[in-house]
Amino acid sequence: MKNRVAIITGAARGIGFGIAACLARGGMNIVIADMNGKTAEESAAQLAREQKIEALGLACDITQRTQVADMTRTTIARFGQVDALVNNAGICPFVDIMQMSEEMFKKTLDVNLTGAFHCTQIVAQEMIRRGKGGRIIFITSLAVNVTGAAQGDYAASKAGLHMLMKTFAIALGPHGITCNAVAPGMILTDMTRFHWEKPEPAAFIKQRVPVGRIGTPEDIGNAVAMLCSDNAAYINGIGLIVDGGHQAVCA
Ligand SMILES: NC(=O)c1ccc[n+]([C@@H]2O[C@H](COP(=O)([O-])OP(=O)(O)OC[C@H]3O[C@@H](n4cnc5c(N)ncnc54)[C@H](O)[C@@H]3O)[C@@H](O)[C@H]2O)c1
Repeated sequence: MKNRVAIITGAARGIGFGIAACLARGGMNIVIADMNGKTAEESAAQLAREQKIEALGLACDITQRTQVADMTRTTIARFGQVDALVNNAGICPFVDIMQMSEEMFKKTLDVNLTGAFHCTQIVAQEMIRRGKGGRIIFITSLAVNVTGAAQGDYAASKAGLHMLMKTFAIALGPHGITCNAVAPGMILTDMTRFHWEKPEPAAFIKQRVPVGRIGTPEDIGNAVAMLCSDNAAYINGIGLIVDGGHQAVCA
């Protein structure tokens, strides 16, 4: 994967940063596109220093199509190509569906679903223009199949994202561009830390996750790296669950 270029959205921290680190370890140059431009720059500088690759941190709100177009243009100007896009940026407000405002509901759909639509359409146009194929990965969730009272907006957005991935897989397959989803289980990040650092959830993890631990951003990064490799050329339109076996447990 040496000298290839990957854009990862929402990679200033958390799972996105874990994905960026795994792809960088494989030799890819990295663009971190995150709403938080300052942290994106710092995280890119860290990757470049530690992994001896080239990395760029860019401020980009994926809900703003013009910002996505600017971010893609800057990437092409710097590296001349994009080989992989990881649609990772996402939010999960954890508000009961009966208390949720219309504004919040729309915001979740805008970031988690419409943002990935903008990024995929715009970056795929570059991949098609270059004619060398590509890899696009969508970070979904177990919430594609299961939900909770405080995850209605999130589950709707992630189930939609899964079908958006399949649609792009059909549209872009003829160009040698594969699209797949990675659905993380329970991963310790700033999004979920408030929940998993209490004592009872730790016991819950031991009981409900067969491998006996919470997941790390690198667990997801390793799966993304596998799907971005040349060996994954015939894998297209699938959702890969990476959850330590959690969804297999029925009680
Ligand atoms: N943590 C988990 O347990 C878990 C489980 C399943 C799926 N996921 C998914 O993984 C992805 C990453 O989650 P995380 O836990 O690392 O979250 P996180 O909150 O730690 O990081 C999310 C990043 O996305 C960025 N972001 C938010 N809105 C954005 C926007 N409009 N434009 C650009 N960047 C934006 C934030 O600045 C932040 O850097 C999300 O899509 C999330 O739904 C997480």
